[in-house]
Amino acid sequence: MATEQKVGLRLGYKAPNFKANTTQGEIDFYDFIGDSWVILFSHPADFTPVCTTELAEAARLAPEFQKRGVKQIGLSCNELGSHEKWVQDINQFGNVNLSFPIIADPTREIAKLYDMLDEQDLTNLDEKGIPFTVRTVYVIDPKKTVRLSLQYPASTGRQFNEILRCIDSLQLTDREKVATPQGWTPGQPLIVHNSLKTDAAKEHFKGKEVKEVFPYLRFVNL
Ligand code: BEZ
Repeated sequence: MATEQKVGLRLGYKAPNFKANTTQGEIDFYDFIGDSWVILFSHPADFTPVCTTELAEAARLAPEFQKRGVKQIGLSCNELGSHEKWVQDINQFGNVNLSFPIIADPTREIAKLYDMLDEQDLTNLDEKGIPFTVRTVYVIDPKKTVRLSLQYPASTGRQFNEILRCIDSLQLTDREKVATPQGWTPGQPLIVHNSLKTDAAKEHFKGKEVKEVFPYLRFVNL
């Protein structure tokens, strides 16, 4: 079912600040970000099966996010007490110790601010018929800019390794004049950024082989 189009939080927009209650106390989001990267991700509801598998995987991968200087923070429209009880199930299911905060947003104030509410799934509603959140992900950089967003429906669990892969791409392409091809993983050939002509690329990546397939498609290994 299509609904009226709204402008959401696009890539390059400044992530809006908010104050929130979380499983680790009250936070000011900008203070939480500090000088780090952040992944802010919502799930539809506590004590639901797909969400339990997702949060367990996010907890299992916490060291991978930390290695990249990325703080994790979850969100749903449930109350704090519900989050606290549900975390015990997540830890039991995944044999993990979930260590990142989960925001309690029962008024949906933050979900609205971050365009996370489900406008299309008539099963993803609370008992009053008010939409829950979808599976939204924002990757926010230390300047508080939205660098990546994903939205999955309630029925489809996310792949958190894909989010790590995107973070690797974002952090690498911030440092180097490259882009990453489809399915790229660290260590694989990179694409020379199209702002560099091939001769300039050979100069820029001195000592590395720049392979030209077409004038617009050049590979380099860094
Ligand atoms: C789940 O996590 O399994 C789920 C949550 C809300 C709607 C559908 C599925």
